[in-house]
Amino acid sequence: MQMYDLILKKRNGGELTTEEINYFVAGYTTGEIPDYQAAALLMAIYFRGMNGRETADLTIAIVDSGEKINLGRIPGVKVDKHSTGGVGDKTTLVLAPLVAAAGVPVAKMSGRALGHTGGTIDKLESIPGFKVNLDPGAFIEQVRQINIALTAQTGRIAPADKKLYALRDVTATVDSIPLIASSVVSKKIASGADAILLDVKCGSGAFMRTGEEAAELARAMVEIGKQVNRRMVAVVTDMSRPLGRAVGNAMEVREAIETLRGGGPPDLRELCLTLGAHMLILGGKSREFDSARRILEDLLAGGGALQKFKALVEAQGGDVTVVDNPGALPMAKYRREVAAPADGYVHAIDTLRVGRAAMVLGAGRAAKEDPIDHTAGVEINKKPGDFVNRGEPLAVLHTNREHALEGAAGMVAAAYTLSENSPAQTPLILETIS
Ligand code: URA
Repeated sequence: MQMYDLILKKRNGGELTTEEINYFVAGYTTGEIPDYQAAALLMAIYFRGMNGRETADLTIAIVDSGEKINLGRIPGVKVDKHSTGGVGDKTTLVLAPLVAAAGVPVAKMSGRALGHTGGTIDKLESIPGFKVNLDPGAFIEQVRQINIALTAQTGRIAPADKKLYALRDVTATVDSIPLIASSVVSKKIASGADAILLDVKCGSGAFMRTGEEAAELARAMVEIGKQVNRRMVAVVTDMSRPLGRAVGNAMEVREAIETLRGGGPPDLRELCLTLGAHMLILGGKSREFDSARRILEDLLAGGGALQKFKALVEAQGGDVTVVDNPGALPMAKYRREVAAPADGYVHAIDTLRVGRAAMVLGAGRAAKEDPIDHTAGVEINKKPGDFVNRGEPLAVLHTNREHALEGAAGMVAAAYTLSENSPAQTPLILETIS
């Protein structure tokens, strides 16, 4: 087999066979296929696309490039959840203990922040002492004991994806639906999931800008599930405004704890209940959506979800006092309000700009090796539909980098659009695909 022939075939709109896809992924992972040929094939896939069978084959080839976690020692259906990335998206911090408290085992591997989007592992590390690198034996044992463990994804999972993603990043081939779908799903399958719930974001803070694009990506991922025998549900959700009010690691943990106590911002609570209800159904704990949702509402109101979060923090060496007293989480040294320039309704918030401002303040990373300031972030005081008087704070910046305040304030101010009339309310949950 020659790489040249694969590139030519895809460039001309042909369909790659399973053997050809395996040859490409295995050869690129070992370094036998050079970057320039892999890049040419990725660009051909970008323009010509892949059908469902090719996308599923690419997914499995990526899974087979590395270690596969066997969660067989954990009884029950292991349901994983993936979000395509957002701003203020602390859903996992609420959802994981919530569904674990309802009896669905949660053995979850998560990632770190990159660019304007946050990562669950950095958020958890803002809890003093919390260990995010569990060895596979301890990870599985913890789930057997308390039904929940959260750990950082190791480099041994799907190494082909790591290499391909780095190449896509520098060859303008990231935003290809079959490439994103295979990248996301391969990591979940290699992590041992029996069933997967996908939260596919759309809007200014997401990969997919429009609901149609997000739904197309969602359908491609659900189609892979059908081909590889994993139950999947995808929910398309709006990320054209930050989720909740906190953007930044320790701030988001505080907000997640409020939500686990039965309070929290309505949009975050609603998203967690919706995603959680689908997870209970996928995990065989409920037959229909409304009763699943009621189980979760009771766990938030009755303290069961909060207790599960406390058990998780304790098991992973974190300071449990922060669960009862979230004010004990670390705080930034500097704060600055971003004032409204006029009276009016908040019409829209450019989420990408808010995410970038949080990154500049220290909450995220421009490059993989950048350090994180867990205390930094943006507190959103006014959301779309809220009325604001001139001079009132739209948002508050938190940071230890005093020099970053000026630039970040400009970015957050520019993110807000005010209008005379109240804007139409848009739904948070746009579509469910199963
Ligand atoms: N997230 C991933 O894991 N992979 C992609 O290709 C895009 C987003």
